[in-house]
Amino acid sequence: MATPDCILLTGAAGYIASHTWLALQDAGYTVVGVDSFVNSSPVVLDRLREIGGQPIHFVQGDVRDPAVLDRCFELGQTVGGIKAVVHFAALKAVGESVERPLDYFENNLGSLLAVSQAMQRHGVFDLVFSSSATVYGEPERLPITEDAPLRATNPYGQTKLVGEELLRSLVACDARWHVACLRYFNPVGAHPSGRIGEDPRGIPNNLMPYVAQVAVGKRPHLNVFGNDYDTPDGTGVRDYIHVCDLAEGHVAAVRYLGEQQRSVTVNLGTGQGYSVVQLAQAYGRAAGREIPLVFAPRRTGDVAACYADPALAQRLLGWSARRGLDDMCVDSWRWQSTNPGGFEG
Ligand code: UFG
Repeated sequence: MATPDCILLTGAAGYIASHTWLALQDAGYTVVGVDSFVNSSPVVLDRLREIGGQPIHFVQGDVRDPAVLDRCFELGQTVGGIKAVVHFAALKAVGESVERPLDYFENNLGSLLAVSQAMQRHGVFDLVFSSSATVYGEPERLPITEDAPLRATNPYGQTKLVGEELLRSLVACDARWHVACLRYFNPVGAHPSGRIGEDPRGIPNNLMPYVAQVAVGKRPHLNVFGNDYDTPDGTGVRDYIHVCDLAEGHVAAVRYLGEQQRSVTVNLGTGQGYSVVQLAQAYGRAAGREIPLVFAPRRTGDVAACYADPALAQRLLGWSARRGLDDMCVDSWRWQSTNPGGFEG
């Protein structure tokens, strides 16, 4: 039997990466992971071993350190040689990025440069980059297609926009490179095993982890940021996508790069928008308890509605989301209710 292709994941113990790790293994790939644990837990690795039933190939360290990346490629040599890299490692909190812009530029762009340089050193040129729907800023038209105007409204978004542009320039200058920029909409949910999921530190910034903590009794109610938007019920509308669907989108992108030897930029969303109130109600059904809502002022920087046109990803990658809002809530609740303190609780 041929040796399976080996894929390097940076930020491998993070929320989206850990789900992608399992999806890649399910698709027959071998995975090497690297993480500094600056915003994740080593317990994730035990859980991945437990769910996936395969040995874990892992390097601990910061990917801005070239020696750390060299160790990853060396470890990859022992399991068939790394064929592609999925670069997840990044800081991702919008509010924090406004408070500490230089940290975001240094971390997110520094890591992207270091990863690309290490790839070149080791003769690997297939890269999947974690981008975000944040690159569309306030959308002019819905659903959002990939040719919509790009603009960043905060330093975090700026790092994704500049990251994409840097990679497009690299591809234009050097035909060896093939890059997939994946623009995530709103990843939520958890692995159906309930053993891995999102484990934010401190007060969650994002809606579903906050709702999950209300459901489990850690917080008294959900603050709904704005109920006077131009949306059906006045609350913000987003394209929530099950993290396992998103993970499968990465597998499709890795496969596309390997088979087509072309670059691609696609939305990864469902195409379906739900409001804050709709999500809270669906979560309440999944958890068997109502989520108390308190209407609060709009949050600075939020847009009324944001959802994807996912047709390009379907056409080019042969990928589309399969899981619905109820699956997202049921799987999130299984994770939250069985791990109320997160990985280290
Ligand atoms: N919301 C609340 N209460 C909360 C948290 C969120 O009402 O406690 C609302 C927000 O106002 C928004 C919706 O829930 O209407 C979703 O908010 P999230 O923070 O979960 O998600 P965002 O769409 O604001 O942000 C996400 C990612 C960012 C990314 C952005 C745009 O977290 O990284 O999408 O792509 F930049």
